[in-house]
Amino acid sequence: MHLLPILYICFHILIYATANPITFEDVRGTPYKVDYDHRAIRINGVRTMLISGAIHYPRSTPMMWPYIMKMAKNQGLNTVQTYVFWNLHEQKQGVLDFTGRANLSRFLQEATNAGLFVNLRIGPYVSAEWTYGGLPVWLNQISNISFRSNNEPWKRLMKKFILTIIDYVTPYLAKNGGPIILAQIENEYNGNDQGYVDWCGSLVSNELSSTEIPWIMCNGHAANSTIETCNSCNCLDDGWIDNHRKYSPDKPMLFTENEGWFQQWGEAIGIRKTSDIAYSVASWFAAGGAYHAYYMWHGGNNYGRIAASGITTLYADDVCLHADGTPNEPKYTHLSRLQHLIADRAQVILSQDSTRISLPWWDGKQWAYGTQQFVYSYPPSIDFIISQATVPVNVLFRNQNISIDDQSILIYDDNMNLLWNSANYSDIDSDNTEIFPVVVGPLNWQTWSESSKILNLSVITFPSPLEQLSITNDDTIYLWYRRNVTLKQASANSIIRVQTRISNALLFFLNGQYLGEFDDHNHQVGNSIEAYLAVDLSHYKPNQQYLFEILSISFGIFSGVETDFFEQKGIVGNVWFDKQLLFDNETETNFWQHQKGLIGEYLQIYTEQGSSKVSWDTQWTKNIDKPITWFQARFDLDHLIREDTNVNPILLDAQGLNRGHAFINGNDLGLYWLIQGFCENNPPCCCQHAQINCLKPTQRYYHIPSDWLMAKNNLITVFDDLGAPSPGSVGFVQRVVTIKK
Ligand SMILES: *[C@@H]1O[C@H](CO)[C@@H](O)[C@H](O)[C@H]1NC(C)=O
Ligand SMILES: *[C@@H]1O[C@H](CO)[C@@H](O)[C@H](O)[C@H]1NC(C)=O
Ligand SMILES: *[C@@H]1O[C@H](CO)[C@@H](O)[C@H](O)[C@H]1NC(C)=O
Ligand SMILES: *[C@@H]1O[C@H](CO)[C@@H](O)[C@H](O)[C@H]1NC(C)=O
Ligand SMILES: *[C@@H]1O[C@H](CO)[C@@H](O)[C@H](O)[C@H]1NC(C)=O
Ligand SMILES: *[C@@H]1O[C@H](CO)[C@@H](O)[C@H](O)[C@H]1NC(C)=O
Ligand SMILES: *[C@@H]1O[C@H](CO)[C@@H](O)[C@H](O)[C@H]1NC(C)=O
Ligand SMILES: *[C@@H]1O[C@H](CO)[C@@H](O)[C@H](O)[C@H]1NC(C)=O
Repeated sequence: MHLLPILYICFHILIYATANPITFEDVRGTPYKVDYDHRAIRINGVRTMLISGAIHYPRSTPMMWPYIMKMAKNQGLNTVQTYVFWNLHEQKQGVLDFTGRANLSRFLQEATNAGLFVNLRIGPYVSAEWTYGGLPVWLNQISNISFRSNNEPWKRLMKKFILTIIDYVTPYLAKNGGPIILAQIENEYNGNDQGYVDWCGSLVSNELSSTEIPWIMCNGHAANSTIETCNSCNCLDDGWIDNHRKYSPDKPMLFTENEGWFQQWGEAIGIRKTSDIAYSVASWFAAGGAYHAYYMWHGGNNYGRIAASGITTLYADDVCLHADGTPNEPKYTHLSRLQHLIADRAQVILSQDSTRISLPWWDGKQWAYGTQQFVYSYPPSIDFIISQATVPVNVLFRNQNISIDDQSILIYDDNMNLLWNSANYSDIDSDNTEIFPVVVGPLNWQTWSESSKILNLSVITFPSPLEQLSITNDDTIYLWYRRNVTLKQASANSIIRVQTRISNALLFFLNGQYLGEFDDHNHQVGNSIEAYLAVDLSHYKPNQQYLFEILSISFGIFSGVETDFFEQKGIVGNVWFDKQLLFDNETETNFWQHQKGLIGEYLQIYTEQGSSKVSWDTQWTKNIDKPITWFQARFDLDHLIREDTNVNPILLDAQGLNRGHAFINGNDLGLYWLIQGFCENNPPCCCQHAQINCLKPTQRYYHIPSDWLMAKNNLITVFDDLGAPSPGSVGFVQRVVTIKK
C-alpha cells in the first residue's frame, strides 16, 4: 500500500528529469513562485520553456474556449497569451462589463482546466487591430488628456483600469495557484516620453509588485523593472537577439509576437509561407529564446463592431488555427511537431547558454567560411543547423556533407538523426477541409425598410454637422445627419463634397431618394479626407426645399493610437453641394439634425422580442438592391451534429449580399462586405509572401459561434446598408475537417 505512492513519485521525477520540467498541471491549485534569470522564466525556481500563442477571448465565445484551448494544448502550446480590452470592459465610463465574451475570469478558468499558463497583456493600450487599439472613446472627452504619455489624466485612468483588472484576476495569479505567470504593461511604445516609460516601470515595481510575477514591455521602450520583448517575423535575422544580449544580458529572451498578420477589406488574403514561420520559430529556440508566442495562434473573428478601421471580420486567418477554428495545414502539424520536440528537450536546452558556431559551406570548389551557416549545439541531445542564405547550400557538420534549404533549419539529435527540417512538410496534407452547403437559399425572407421611419428618435440640432463619436459614444456605428436644403442650382453633374475620416461610409438621400454613397476602407491613420460623390440633380428644382440626409457608418477606429491622436468619425468639417456650403447659423429650420443609430437597432428587431415591433413584408423581392433594408428569415439545423460545430463550424455564405451586419438569434456576426480583394505586386506586409483569392470577395464566409446556434427555428436578420443584389443566394455551409490517415 505504501510502496505504490513512492514509486509513483519516483516515476514522476524521472519523467521530468528528461522531459519538459514544469507544466501548469504540476503547480495548478497551489501557490507557486515565478521569477526569471538571464536564460528563462522560472517556475518554483525551475527554468521553463514557454511555448505560447495568442488567443483573444472576445474574438471567440465562451462555448468555443474549451475547444480552442484543447486544440492549443494538443498542438504543443503550454501557455496562452491574451490582451485585455479596455473599451470592451468599460464601454461607458465607470460601468464595468465582464459578461459573455467579456467574461475574462471564465476564459482564465478554461485555461486553468486545459492546463495552460497565461500571459496577460493588459496594456491597456493594445493596438491589436481592435477598434481604437482598445481605448474607450469616452477618453476623447476627458479634458486635457494626452494618451500614452506622462500626462496626469491619462496616468490616473490607465492606472485605475490596470488595478481594476489585477483585482479582478487575483484568484488566477500564480501566487494563488492560478495560471497567470506573466503580465504586460503598455504595448509597442515607441514614443519619446521617457518620463512615461519610467512611470510604467514604477507602477510595476510599486502598485503592481503584489502580483509577484514578471512584467514585460514589448517591441519598444521598456522600463528597467520590465523585460523588453520581441515582436517580429524573425528575431534572430533582424538583429533583435544580438541587441538583447548586448543591452539586457541579465534578462531572458521572450518573443511576444511572431506575426501571422491580418486581412483588410479590399485586399486579397495574404499568406505567410509555412517554411518561413517554421524557420523563424526554430531559430528562436535555437538561439536561446525561452518564450515564443504566435500572434495569433487563433485569430478568431471581429464579431459585432470590435474591428479596427479597415480590418476584416475574420482576424488573422493564416495562423495555426483558422479564424473559424479549423486547423490550418500544413502549419498546424508542422509546427506542432517542432513544439513537441522543443518541449521534450527543453530541460537540456535551458540548462545551458546558446553558443553559435560557424559551419563551413561548399562554394562549388571547397569548404568556405562565412557568417550565414552555423549551429547551436545543446549537448548531449540536440543540434540546430541554420542557414540564413537565400539559396540552398551544403554545410559540413561532424564530417558530414549536409544539404540545407534556403533560410531553413535542421534539427539533429546527437547520433545525427534528423529530427525535423523546417523546409520539409511534404507528408502533411494541406487540403484538410471541405465546405458543404447545409441550408441552401432562397430562405423564406421577410423584409422591412429602415426608411419607413415608423418612429422619430430623438435628435441633436446644431448649425454645423457634429463629429460622430461625440454623439454616439460608439454605442452604435450609425449616425444620421439631416438638414433642409434649398438648392441654388440642380445640374446633371453636381458634386457633393464632405469632410470625413478614413474607414467610414456616407450614404446620401434627397427627399428619401438614394443618391449614392462614398466609402473608404483604409486601415492606416489618415488626416481628414474629402468624400466626393457625383450626382445627377436634374430632376430636382432649384429654390425649392428638400430634406437632405446622410447616413454615416463607421467601419471601426484606427488601432495605432499615439500620444496626441483623437480619432473621429462621420462628418468632421463641412458639406457642400457644388459650391454651396451647407452652413446656416441663423435659420433654425436649416440646422443639422443628428440621430444616433437606426430604428431597427433601437427596437432590436434582430431579436425574438424585437422582431414583432415592425411589420415585416413577405414580398421581399421588391427590396432587392434597395439600400438600408432589413431582411429576416428562420432556418433549422437539426440534421447537423450539434456537439460537432466547433470542430466543423457553420458559416454564413454571404454571397448575394452587399455590405452590412448579419445577426443570428440576436448576435451580431460582424461587418460583412462582399468587396473584391485585389492582389498587389508585392505582398501586403512584413512576413507575408503571397496572396490568394485575387479578385474574389475579401471575405465570403462568416463564422457563426456554436453558442449562438440552435437545432430549430434560428432567426437570421440582415441589415444591408448598400442594398443586397441577391438575398435568395444567401445560405449556410459547414466546413468539415477531413479525417487524417
Ligand atoms: C462568468 O462566467 C462564470 C462561469 O460560467 C459565471 O459563473 C459568471 O457569472 C460569469 N460572469 C459574468 C459577469 O457573467
Ligand atoms: C486643463 O489645462 C488648463 C491649462 O493647463 C488648466 O487651466 C485647466 O484647469 C485644466 N483642466 C482640468 C480639468 O484639469
Ligand atoms: C534605468 O537604468 C539605467 C541604466 O542602468 C539608469 O541609467 C536609469 O537611471 C534607470 N532608470 C530608472 C527610472 O531607474
Ligand atoms: C557536398 O555535396 C554537394 C552536393 O551533393 C557536392 O556538390 C559537393 O561536391 C560535396 N562536397 C564534398 C566535399 O563532398
Ligand atoms: C521530406 O520528408 C519526407 C518524410 O516525411 C521524406 O520522405 C522526404 O525524403 C523528405 N524530402 C526531402 C527533400 O528531404
Ligand atoms: C416624424 O416627424 C416628422 C416631422 O419631423 C413627421 O412628419 C412624422 O409624422 C413623424 N413620424 C412619426 C412616426 O411620428
Ligand atoms: C425643414 O423645414 C421644415 C419647415 O420648412 C421644418 O418643419 C423641418 O423640421 C425642417 N427639417 C429639418 C431636418 O430641420
Ligand atoms: C454665424 O456664423 C458667422 C460666421 O462664422 C458669424 O460671423 C456669425 O456671428 C454667426 N451668427 C450667429 C447668430 O451665431
